Formats: sequence, structure tokens, C-alpha cells
Amino acid sequence: MDPVTSFVHLARIALSGRRRELVMFLRRSLPSIREMKPELAAEINKLLELTSAGPLRAKAAMPEPLPVDLDSRLELVRHEEHPEMAVEPTWPSEIRDELNQFILERQQEEHLAAVGVMPTRSLLFVGPPGVGKSLAARYLAVQLHRPLLTLDLAAVMSSFLGRTGNNIRAVLDYARRSSSILLLDEFDAIAKRRDDSADVGELKRLVTVLLQAIDDWPREGILLAATNHPDLLDPAVWRRFERVIPFPLPSANDIAAAIQVALQDDTNRVSKTTIEILAALLEGRSFADVRKVILGARREALVSKLPIDQVLTERVSKLLNGQSRARRIQTAVSLRQTGLTERHVYDLTGVSRDTIRRRTKVGGKRINSNGKKG
Ligand SMILES: Nc1ncnc2c1ncn2[C@@H]1O[C@H](COP(=O)(O)OP(=O)(O)O)[C@@H](O)[C@H]1O
Ligand SMILES: [Mg+2]
Repeated sequence: MDPVTSFVHLARIALSGRRRELVMFLRRSLPSIREMKPELAAEINKLLELTSAGPLRAKAAMPEPLPVDLDSRLELVRHEEHPEMAVEPTWPSEIRDELNQFILERQQEEHLAAVGVMPTRSLLFVGPPGVGKSLAARYLAVQLHRPLLTLDLAAVMSSFLGRTGNNIRAVLDYARRSSSILLLDEFDAIAKRRDDSADVGELKRLVTVLLQAIDDWPREGILLAATNHPDLLDPAVWRRFERVIPFPLPSANDIAAAIQVALQDDTNRVSKTTIEILAALLEGRSFADVRKVILGARREALVSKLPIDQVLTERVSKLLNGQSRARRIQTAVSLRQTGLTERHVYDLTGVSRDTIRRRTKVGGKRINSNGKKG
């Protein structure tokens, strides 16, 4: 950054009272200041040493209290100083690439700053329920060793709106001053309130506050938002986020990976074929649903003392019986494509070998009954 831009940036941080960011910015600027004006660098260094020995550390030991609702005194956000993963995530490759890119940018923040590039500050996660949006926020916090602040907008919006606005503002202000990642979960809850015409004025102000917050979120900070209903969001909101990451429903391969993780030690007791069949049957469902099926089966196997493979095979039949004929044909085709023989697929699904053959094509070519491409 040139001196003028730097100075303006410095003034902006200082005037808005973002102390942590101020210290980081000064530390980061020291090498280039030293090159231009060594005496100035020495003075700033002295000040920084005083700061880090004194109040900054005292502040870290005595964290600022979380913002509370003025009436109920209930805390408005969930704060986790050291977030942990309860579940080992299996990310579909596109999502993994996006998340890793974000992590790398932060890990190489200094390197980016040296050439005047800011790391991404805001991400919007979009996708149906249960596909890992909230989990991804936690994952980023764990990977970047940052505390996680979660604001569940669906919960906050259900209270009286006049106060909701103040509450959300308090949370945004709090988050801007901390080093935490802020997740605005169920982000569409804000848009949903729009039908309620009595609240239109306050709601408009609230949306403006949010848009402003996204725009000048501190460069050290990380702001994440997640929504199940992207269609409810104003395009103006979309545009504000630096990156939008779609979370699609998992593919059969993604599901197979999640099944193996959910099986934990039982994985070795289940045949690869059973996992593939289950994955094909569960296609179209979310990761949350998949885990529910597997954890349910593991519980059943434990209490009924049956082998897990047998319990899962029973689940397969149950799932197949519940399918419509059209869906069953689709499943038969998926199963055939995993390499099962026509005979095996017929035994499982009851779909005739003729139908399977007519519908099954791999790369534009039909496959022979022995499973090889013809
Ligand atoms: N990528 C994933 N890998 C493994 N489990 C997942 C994944 N995504 C979601 N889950 C499971 O589904 C549950 C709900 O995920 P969550 O992130 O809360 O979904 P949402 O997209 O609705 O925010 C998680 O607690 C976890 O058990
Ligand atoms: Mg969620």
C-alpha cells in the first residue's frame, strides 16, 4: 500500500476502535516502514512492545462479555472459544477446494498483504438443509484456530423486531472487535420477515446495517453466512459477499465416503458392495439423513446383537420397498453402474434385466451383462 492509502486505512481502523486490527496492521507494516524511515519504525515498534506487554494481554485474559438481550438478559450469540468437530466431515471435492483456498489465503495473509492483496473476508454458503453449511463454518474456525460466534437469525428474528435490530447491531459490533469468526446462520430468516408489513421500516434499516457490515468488515475478520433459501435473498445481499459457495446434495460417491466415516470401527465388517448399494439408494438425501440411517443401524446392531452387515442389508430392502417403480428403476441403473451384475441388481430391485439393459448406458455405450463396457 502507498503511504496515503496506508494512513487512511490506519485512521479508519483507529477511529472505529478496532484495537486488535490496529496492532496487526502496524506489525505487518513495520518491515516496509523500516525500509523508508527506520526511526519511525523504531518508534512504532516501541509503542507496540508497550501495548503487547500491557493492556492487550490484560484484555485477552478478561474477554469482553457477550452481548445480551436487554430484556431477557439472554446471550444473543453462541460463543465457542475452542470449537471442535463432533463429526469428521467428508467434503465433496468442489467444497473442499473452496474451503482449502480460503484457509490458505489466511495462512498466507502476510504474503498477500506484502503485495497489497486482502484475503477473502466474507463467504455465503448456499444449499439445502443438512449438507454441511454450519459444519463448514466450524471447520474453518478449527482449521484457523479462531473462536466461533454463531448468530442464529431464525431464533433472533422471531422476537420483537424493534429490539431485534438493536440485538443484531450489538452482535455485529461485538464480532468486529473480536478475532472470532462470525457465522450468521439461517440468514434468509431476515428476508422472510419482509412479508410482515408493519415491520417494513425497521427491516429495511436492519438490512442496510447488515449490508454495510458486510462491506466494511475488518480485514482481519471473517464473516460467514448460511442460507437454505437463496431465492429469498435480495441480489444486493448476494453481491456483497466476496464468495458464494454452493453446497449441493452429496453424490453417491460423497455418500459412500460419509457412510464409511459414520460406520467408524464397523467399516471393516461391512462389504464394499453393501456400502455402494446403500449410497446409491440414499442418493438425493443430505449428509444429515445419511448419518441418521447409519447411526440408527449401528444402534440396532448393538442392541439386537446382530451383525451390522445384516442390519444394513435389511435397511437396503426396506429402502427399496419404499421406492416408487420409477425411482426403483433409477436405483437399478445406479447400481448397475457401480459394477454389480444385472442378475444381482435384479435380485435386489426386481427390475427386469431387459429394463436395466435398456436404461443403462455408460459414456454413451451400453454395458454388457458381465459388467464391462461394450
Ligand atoms: N460434509 C459432511 N460430512 C459429514 N457429515 C456431514 C457433512 N455435512 C453435514 N453432515 C452431518 O449433517 C449434520 C448437519 O449438518 P449442518 O452443517 O448442520 O447442515 P446445514 O447445511 O443445514 O447447516 C452434521 O452435524 C453432520 O452430522
Ligand atoms: Mg445449518
